[in-house]
Amino acid sequence: MRILVIGSGAREHALLRGLSLDPATTDLHVAPGNAGLGKLATVHPEIKADDPAQVTALAQELNSDLVVIGPEIPLVAGVADALRAAGFAVFGPNQDAAQIEGSKAFAKDIMAARGVKTAVAEAIQPGASDAEIEAALDNFGPNWVVKDDGLAAGKGVVVTPDRAAARAHVDAVLEGGNPVLLESFLDGPEVSLFCLVDGETVIPLLPAQDHKRVFDNDEGPNTGGMGAYAPLPWLPADGVQRIVDEICVPVAQEMVARGCSYSGLLYAGIAWGKEGPAVVEFNCRFGDPETQAVLALLKTPLAGLLNSVAQGTLAEQPPLEWQDGYALTVVLASHNYPEAPRTGDVIRNADADNIYHAGTALNADGELVSAGGRVLNVIGVGETLEAARDNAYATIKDIELDGSHYRTDIALPAVEGRISI
Ligand code: GLY
Repeated sequence: MRILVIGSGAREHALLRGLSLDPATTDLHVAPGNAGLGKLATVHPEIKADDPAQVTALAQELNSDLVVIGPEIPLVAGVADALRAAGFAVFGPNQDAAQIEGSKAFAKDIMAARGVKTAVAEAIQPGASDAEIEAALDNFGPNWVVKDDGLAAGKGVVVTPDRAAARAHVDAVLEGGNPVLLESFLDGPEVSLFCLVDGETVIPLLPAQDHKRVFDNDEGPNTGGMGAYAPLPWLPADGVQRIVDEICVPVAQEMVARGCSYSGLLYAGIAWGKEGPAVVEFNCRFGDPETQAVLALLKTPLAGLLNSVAQGTLAEQPPLEWQDGYALTVVLASHNYPEAPRTGDVIRNADADNIYHAGTALNADGELVSAGGRVLNVIGVGETLEAARDNAYATIKDIELDGSHYRTDIALPAVEGRISI
């Protein structure tokens, strides 16, 4: 199978690694890629991932059998639609279905139609008066949950007990021209459940947990994700099935009923509170960095699995096979991430196979340098969560990147039994 992957982060590195291990894969390409992906695939840095015409032309040139779209921006821009119209098998939803992430109002409407539990929300439109904004803030908090109703890569959400900070984020988003959503605060530990969805067929992967704040003990601002682990030892035995039955299947059915059938990966971001699972958000693609941990344990060949979704034959897929044990990923971030990440710093000691590239490039001297906020991911796998942590941290401590930082407590609350529901 000749496969083209669209994207440029550590999630795409994990996808390429998984695809390269499937004997059905004959040829791997990635666009636009990053400096670490050349070992696994032919890299096409000149391609703009969110340009439907450019991506389709590349798939035609490569005669791709399958195109796997990693990030949300191309999906929301309609890249999958253009590829399908040109006759390609695509892993990733069309533009109308990608609204489940692209428009939080759309996602709320889908959930309301099927009685799926989620936070109560109120939208504030650009141009709202001071009195309208204050009245909306009166209806919520503390804590206030303030979301940019657009694509913000996880960084557009502020959760705060401080009303002034909530107001400041409302103002900042409105000034950017986007509507703001205020939401009721959902308490309880968070679960990221990724489901393969092909119409009404829903197959869950292992549950994972992200660590969104930049510093240990969940301090500092939200980021795109600083680390993750899978599976979740504290989740009840029927936890995944409840999320599938109460949330993912009804949403998939509602999308079919509305004529925007879902095909790809549906990411349910869940808070498990006293009354069970409730939706924090949906994403229309694999999560980053959870995917790096989840796919590290998948034994079912990945190319065949993603292709079955793309071909509309997921219902015929035998049960997924998983390696026993745990996997974890720790993100190495650049100086000043997430506020104003510094780029261009030289990276050393980053050749190990369990290091995935997120924001890297080569400088004019051919040296590996940082090119984004999240620079590298280190993967650890082990029979226990402690062993997986030890393996990841043994690698990350030797990577040299001036000013870089990483969390030292990924999966630690779970290891120490501090999470319960
Ligand atoms: N892990 C957060 C995200 O992928 O949006």
